[in-house]
Amino acid sequence: MLRVSETPARPAHETVFTVEATPLKFGPGASAEAGWELARLGARRAMVCSDPEVRRLGVTERITAQLDAEGIAFEVYDDIRVEPSDESFATAAAFAREGAFDAFVSIGGGSTIDTAKVANLISTHGGEVVDYVNAPVGGGRKPAGPLKPHLAIPTTSGSGSEATTVAVLDVRSQGVKSGISHRFLRASQAIVDPELTRTLAAEVTSSAGLDVICHAAESFLARPFQTRERPASPGDRPPYQGSNPVADLWSSRALEDGGRFLRRAVADRDDVEARGRMMLCASLAGIGFGSAGVHIPHACAYPIATGTHAYQPAGYPDDHPFVPHGHSVIVTSPAAFRFTYEAAPERHIHVAELLAGRPIGAGERGPETLPRVLSELMRDVGAPSGLRELGYEEDDIPALVQGALKQQRLLVLAPREPSATDLERIMRESLENW
Ligand SMILES: [Fe+2]
Repeated sequence: MLRVSETPARPAHETVFTVEATPLKFGPGASAEAGWELARLGARRAMVCSDPEVRRLGVTERITAQLDAEGIAFEVYDDIRVEPSDESFATAAAFAREGAFDAFVSIGGGSTIDTAKVANLISTHGGEVVDYVNAPVGGGRKPAGPLKPHLAIPTTSGSGSEATTVAVLDVRSQGVKSGISHRFLRASQAIVDPELTRTLAAEVTSSAGLDVICHAAESFLARPFQTRERPASPGDRPPYQGSNPVADLWSSRALEDGGRFLRRAVADRDDVEARGRMMLCASLAGIGFGSAGVHIPHACAYPIATGTHAYQPAGYPDDHPFVPHGHSVIVTSPAAFRFTYEAAPERHIHVAELLAGRPIGAGERGPETLPRVLSELMRDVGAPSGLRELGYEEDDIPALVQGALKQQRLLVLAPREPSATDLERIMRESLENW
């Protein structure tokens, strides 16, 4: 018999999930309200993070003019790397500390928004970047309290960083990608303005859009949250919790819209409706994966992006070899979902149906259904056909597998956890998807 003073043993498995969303303001022309939003957030002196390309296009100045109009002082920081590292974050944090800002604005892609998150974190709470990086790569330190207001204005339609609590970085000393993740890193407000993406090259829209599709598909197919172990305390619950009914709503809507609008957005840069819907899609998927998480394709993408290759994508600056993030993610997605199919066949078929925009009949259903739908979409939007096109050969596979295995934080969220041998097969099948 249970005495009153005794409590029953905790269930071994998680029973709770959380979903949070960044307040979003969306629509063509919405960025003209940036000054008003920042004043509403109480800013008097803001650090404006923006990359040199966005600046060159005049987007940054259009927005800072509104800060002027509101009487908000600011300094622009544009030393933003495409793939941020612990060093580049530290440089931005030093700028933030010196400037004694009371608010942050980010205008750019995921790298820019992530840089603002970390500059805000370090200048508000002190410490070094690596202290806050997820364990075991870093110290896993949690911020002592909320950060200063941050207004995030994405200019690409990919990362969804405006909607997540994560900043992704390359930890140079350890040769590994990792992240800083905590709910306090979430931007206070996002402004998503489709007119800001009009200048993007088709290749950039393709890569960013395929990243969104992967965020949504990986989240929807992540292992269910209740199969994780229950954390010792609420503070130990990971940001990436596994699929759950609310994250599913966001992810499935992003898949449906991505299937409908990505081809159009890539084909015609003046199709503001399609580009806008892809931007919104990035935020929707960001809310979904900010709760459920991503797994195999993103784990494989890290070594693919950082490995030895000489890929020079069209549509991007040609000063150094570089694999756009979305293309590094999408190339292994057909093989990854072929591997995970048996863990949840119906959910894989559902993802294929959402992307294809039609029901899939009994005769067409199987492990190849989703890989086929993904490959068709990739081909239609000019994605590389696989690892070989990115400059990798069979001999490179062991190194890529080792790199992917370092991403245990992500791999544990796969509905079927891959061994080294499984990852080797996934990489091999991804050399050429067609
Ligand atoms: Fe991504």
